[in-house]
Amino acid sequence: MDALDLLLNRRSIAKLSEPAPEGVALENIIKAGLRAPDHAALTPWRFVIAQGEGLQKLSDILVRAAEADNSEDAVVEKVKKAPFRAPMVITVIAKVTEHEKVPALEQHLSAGCAAQAMQMAAVAQGFQGFWRSGKWMFHPEVHQAFGLEGEDEIVGFLYLGTPGCTPMKVPERNLSQFVEFL
Ligand SMILES: Cc1cc2nc3c(=O)[nH]c(=O)nc-3n(C[C@H](O)[C@H](O)[C@H](O)COP(=O)(O)O)c2cc1C
Repeated sequence: MDALDLLLNRRSIAKLSEPAPEGVALENIIKAGLRAPDHAALTPWRFVIAQGEGLQKLSDILVRAAEADNSEDAVVEKVKKAPFRAPMVITVIAKVTEHEKVPALEQHLSAGCAAQAMQMAAVAQGFQGFWRSGKWMFHPEVHQAFGLEGEDEIVGFLYLGTPGCTPMKVPERNLSQFVEFL
């Protein structure tokens, strides 16, 4: 797939089935994440891959957070099922190092770039992905389960798998609404 075609036409797909990327394809996805822009070479990234039993562990973590908040049963049921919407979920974490020139925000952004790059690499290899978030990724219970410290943040859950449908058309957007010149 041509790089510009990928950049201009990528869509997310929520319907994801087996197989998940593995072997070289998965390595390429991780390597793409590791090519995110990185001020001062701080490598502010952690990628926690869940599949099979890992999805159950992720579900258990989310349920613990929902229960800690005394959430309604329907909410607990929803988070319990959430990780099983794809055969693989990568939790993308910004691992923040204190640095006089590189504030935490830049490191969070770098981890966000990594998530986007990984989604792109998945699509480029015939897989698909959906970047999800939700309030649970900010929850202390979830942070503790993933060993986050200080200003570390989970920037998203990247759901990956094989597309279960064709992607929707890219929305037409008027460039002039988004672009200004100084
Ligand atoms: C940080 C971040 C978090 C997101 N979280 C969610 C989410 O929890 N649920 C959701 O439906 N879409 C979420 N999205 C948006 C989808 O990943 C996706 O981009 C959106 O559905 C538009 O589809 P497209 O990528 O094909 O344009 C999130 C996007 C970003 C950048």
